[in-house]
Amino acid sequence: MNREQHGPRHVPVLLRRADELLGPALTEPGAVYVDATLGLGGHAEHFLRTYPGLRLVGLDRDTNALRLAEERLRPFADRITLVHTTYDGIADALTQAGLDPVDSVSGILMDLGVSSMQLDEAERGFAYSVDAPLDMRMDPTTGITAADVLNTYSHGELARVLKTYGEERFAGKIASEVVRRRQQRPFTTSAELVELLYATIPAATRRTGGHPAKRTFQALRVEVNGELDSLRAALPAALDALRMGGRIVVMSYQSLEDRVVKQELAPRITSRTPVDLPVELPGMGPEFRMLTRGAEKATEREVEENPRAAPVRMRAAERIQERG
Ligand SMILES: C[S@@+](CC[C@H](N)C(=O)[O-])C[C@H]1O[C@@H](n2cnc3c(N)ncnc32)[C@H](O)[C@@H]1O
Repeated sequence: MNREQHGPRHVPVLLRRADELLGPALTEPGAVYVDATLGLGGHAEHFLRTYPGLRLVGLDRDTNALRLAEERLRPFADRITLVHTTYDGIADALTQAGLDPVDSVSGILMDLGVSSMQLDEAERGFAYSVDAPLDMRMDPTTGITAADVLNTYSHGELARVLKTYGEERFAGKIASEVVRRRQQRPFTTSAELVELLYATIPAATRRTGGHPAKRTFQALRVEVNGELDSLRAALPAALDALRMGGRIVVMSYQSLEDRVVKQELAPRITSRTPVDLPVELPGMGPEFRMLTRGAEKATEREVEENPRAAPVRMRAAERIQERG
């Protein structure tokens, strides 16, 4: 599949707001912008075009995405370094780009989750609406697949994955049914799983709970890709990479991700001066300040223009003190 097939349908999420938040940090010539989830390079292209002195370090775990982004960003080839890595490898990626892993970056964007291309490529198994192999790896070159999870995890492990990552009420019941069915035949395709979910989740709960496969597919994707662990490991390294005045924007698409972002930012925006002291002790003030109030959502108009923006929760922060 080539970029043209995705191009017209691919609108970067909250582009204008991301620019308002990151832009003030990106104007200086030579400023470094890390796009930790490069995807098809939609956000990256905008920033490279808007800020002519900007240098991009783009990361993605998906080799297909990197190939397409490289093609799209060819006009800026002398200003970009693309690295195949998960975003928790940000420090190594910076080193690879000849930069310091700390205090060197002016702006970081993390637009989490799957890309429209990954969803569109039916054979990768992310979408429950089409029958496809149960794969779901964002990096198709490594790691376990969704079928491996279904066919090898114990009942308890399956139930934990579905409950924790999918917030699925019927996790135990679904896990029992998976274990029962795989004894007859291992799972290979998404249609088998979707059929099981239709049969297992009570019809009465569908009106409020959305498509019966939605939560299970989300849970399997998070497990297969270690998404939350990767995010938890990436954020401290990303925050450390930012120089004074450097800014980070994170867009989450599920409450679990947003919670991790909130938790990782909390100690950084909090003063370490003892509460009973009347003045801030030197070097003990907060390292960052929030640029968003809580988690910002997309406006109705943005969701109309780009339905992918509907679940987004955006948080942004700026470094206001050197690292301690
Ligand atoms: C929502 S898309 C990004 C779209 C991009 N902002 C654009 O405008 O085209 C998310 C991308 O992040 C990548 N990704 C997800 N988890 C990742 C991780 N842990 N490390 C690196 N890349 C990851 C996916 O492969 C996907 O290409």
